[in-house]
Amino acid sequence: MQVLDGKALAQTIKEELKVKVDAIRQAGGKIPHLAAVLVGENPASQVYVRNKVRSCEAVGFRSTLLRRPQDITQSELLQIVTELNADPDIDGYIVQLPLPAHIDEDAINLAIDPRKDVDGFTPVNIGRMTLGLDAYLPATPNGIMVMLDRYGIETSGKEVVVLGRSNIVGTPMTVLLSRKSNPGNATVTLCHSRTKDLKAHTLHADIIVAAIGIPEMVTADMVKEGAVVIDVGINRVDDASRSKGYRLAGDVDYAGLKDKVSAMTPVPGGVGPMTVVSLLMNTLKASQKR
Ligand code: GUN
Repeated sequence: MQVLDGKALAQTIKEELKVKVDAIRQAGGKIPHLAAVLVGENPASQVYVRNKVRSCEAVGFRSTLLRRPQDITQSELLQIVTELNADPDIDGYIVQLPLPAHIDEDAINLAIDPRKDVDGFTPVNIGRMTLGLDAYLPATPNGIMVMLDRYGIETSGKEVVVLGRSNIVGTPMTVLLSRKSNPGNATVTLCHSRTKDLKAHTLHADIIVAAIGIPEMVTADMVKEGAVVIDVGINRVDDASRSKGYRLAGDVDYAGLKDKVSAMTPVPGGVGPMTVVSLLMNTLKASQKR
């Protein structure tokens, strides 16, 4: 089995980005500047945002982290979004999800200027992506497309099963994989919690993308021999033998699948780092458009 090493690939792409940023600096151009808004103390979000900020530094971008307490009001958060939209120094920004329950995530998303929406979550960017127009593509699905491309995994004419219909992974993944492009041109089935006989679908898949958020739900009996498996899940599973009291598990039973599939992403070190580089690529693009 080939391990699809997102960590190593992301490092390669970051080095390529650094060369581009160095050239911009030499030419006296504007250094890309990403802002990230982190609300509350969600431990996973803190890790993700820290990785994003560190990765900006690693490639020579500027970054600004805006931390706000869990009890921030909707109007205070909207005010921050309005200020980021207007700030000429910020090329792009993200509002890390999930937001606290009292905040209307849709209202925040709708307030983000699509020209600064480097997460690719706003209706304009999702619409443009769906129409095949130039757009900021959502970071995780695009990171997976970059990975499939760089690893030379054929998608044209393949049967792909996407597990999970979230706005930020599953749904856009189906758009990118089915469009007329390379990678793309796949026959895509989107499965979700109401799918009857999930296994009947996954057993036919040449490629499975699992983005459901249930630890190790995809087991060896569900996959075809030689399939390619992309695991988007990052789940904390209680484990008293670890110093932190938990371990990270994907949505896929990696140990159970590794002798059956032809290629698979590990967790951690698979899709996660690709999401971050995809965000950096969008930020560079945003700064060059301005
Ligand atoms: N939460 C989980 N993934 C993401 C992401 O890609 N962007 C943001 N803003 N929040 C997330």
